Amino acid sequence: MFNLILFGPPGSGKGTQSEKLIEKYGLIHLSTGNLLREEIANQTDLGTAAKNYMDKGQLVPDEVVLGMIACALDNNVHANGFLFDGFPRTVAQARGLDEMLQQRGSGIDLVLALEVTEDELVQRLVNRGKTSGRSDDNEEVIRARIVEYENKTAPVAGHYAEAGKVVYIKGEGGVDDIFHELCGQINARTRMA
Ligand code: AP5
Ligand code: MG
Repeated sequence: MFNLILFGPPGSGKGTQSEKLIEKYGLIHLSTGNLLREEIANQTDLGTAAKNYMDKGQLVPDEVVLGMIACALDNNVHANGFLFDGFPRTVAQARGLDEMLQQRGSGIDLVLALEVTEDELVQRLVNRGKTSGRSDDNEEVIRARIVEYENKTAPVAGHYAEAGKVVYIKGEGGVDDIFHELCGQINARTRMA
């Protein structure tokens, strides 16, 4: 089992790189953002409640996302491993995840943290907003998402850094070059295991 967190601010390329990584390593992709957008598309009560937070660029409450992840872990008991994308986003979520994985006899192996300057993040997401249809891809909400990231999500790296699990990767430049860097780190860890 190999469990990876792809970490980084909004627009740092988590989703882009996740698609490539799950294909190469056979991991199950768990993106809480995607799961929440599915709930919204299906017009569930959870989705309706979550949309109010997402449209303001605020984090959805911890218990909601932890519940979704618990469900996803239970639905994939035979998985090779998981790639967590956009989760955990608070230290409380990280503690909840650690506990859930421990109960299942595993844990987080590696946190790869993408680093991208704020100007580049805003530019990428404003650009994506022209075609994405995502109601949170406009400059005002993008800025709010970045503030929320700095205040509540950045400390998650500290949580895992204590265990020596965090590696920072420059998230600017070609998508394939960044993918190559990420793979190098994963290969080094899995060889050691
Ligand atoms: P979520 O869906 O997770 O969005 P996000 O973190 O804001 O980040 P994005 O998905 O926008 O960016 P990304 O890093 O995946 O980058 P991407 O590859 O798409 O969360 C949305 C909302 O849901 C949150 O605000 C919150 O309300 C809620 N939520 C989700 N999870 C939660 C949780 N755990 N707890 C509480 N609330 C939660 O790339 C971005 C753009 O850049 C694309 O256009 C891409 O083509 C481009 N790009 C990618 N790589 C490059 C590159 N190397 N060079 C140039 N452009 C690039
Ligand atoms: Mg994403």
